[in-house]
Amino acid sequence: MKRFDKWGNSNLHKQWQNELFLQAKEWVLDAGIMIRDNLNKPLSVMTKTSHKDLVTTMDQQVEKFFTEKIKATYPEHRILAEEGFGDQVTHLKDFVWIIDPIDGTMNFVHQKRNFAISVGIYYDYVGHIGIIYDVMADELYYAIKDTGAYKNDMKLPMLTKDLPLSESILGLNHSWIMENRFVNEKYMQKLIKNIRGSRTYGSAALQFAYVAEGSIDGYLSMRLSPWDFAAGTIIVNEVGGLTTSIYGDSLNLLKPSTVFTGNPYIQKHILDNYLKVKEL
Ligand code: IPD
Ligand code: CA
Ligand code: CA
Repeated sequence: MKRFDKWGNSNLHKQWQNELFLQAKEWVLDAGIMIRDNLNKPLSVMTKTSHKDLVTTMDQQVEKFFTEKIKATYPEHRILAEEGFGDQVTHLKDFVWIIDPIDGTMNFVHQKRNFAISVGIYYDYVGHIGIIYDVMADELYYAIKDTGAYKNDMKLPMLTKDLPLSESILGLNHSWIMENRFVNEKYMQKLIKNIRGSRTYGSAALQFAYVAEGSIDGYLSMRLSPWDFAAGTIIVNEVGGLTTSIYGDSLNLLKPSTVFTGNPYIQKHILDNYLKVKEL
């Protein structure tokens, strides 16, 4: 059992920050091995809120793996996790781990690729450690607050280059250009014409990672839960990207939300000129 002391001004001491990162990374890689080793074994697939919302025994097994490890090693830390093995988390005081054991379960079930493990660690409402692991590609994206973001130990460059919309690729799905309750779809259709291309990957966490590495320049979702964006916002933040709701507000880590993350140049430009939000 390990204990972390409280530090003055809520600042996480660098040494502990690093130690916590190394421990979380080890568990993420172990969970990745567990998933790959079981990939071709029979799997129970259940639906949750609809036929589009899937959970498997592997999602549950991975989440249990994390909750048991964390509870045994850091008993005072709390856990907010998708499949219900964590705690009832109503505030982010002290340490909170926000975990999606498999982000992109539909890809996991149907394609056996393009899914990720996502782990964000917060201390007193501030995101300190973000890890997103593309299990099948063996690509580990991570960030430690104020020390930059990395992909497989290669530091990712800052997203500082002024980017024209005509050279941008956005991650978003078809619902944005159909009639919807959030935004005027006509402006979104214009946006699609003006950008270079659009992509839909089926994993929110991976799309945050792609924004951070600059392989896409923005990602929009009409509804994500905290475990979908907890790690991603930390990683994107470390390369100078911006993450808000479609109303331009910062995200609440305890509630589902619309999400728009991206290169700072196009994120602001698109918010101001294309996201014509409807009155709720
Ligand atoms: C889902 C994926 C998907 C996003 C959904 C999420 P899950 O997570 O990230 O890309 O569009 O909103 O719920 O259910 O596979 O963990
Ligand atoms: Ca998810
Ligand atoms: Ca999930």
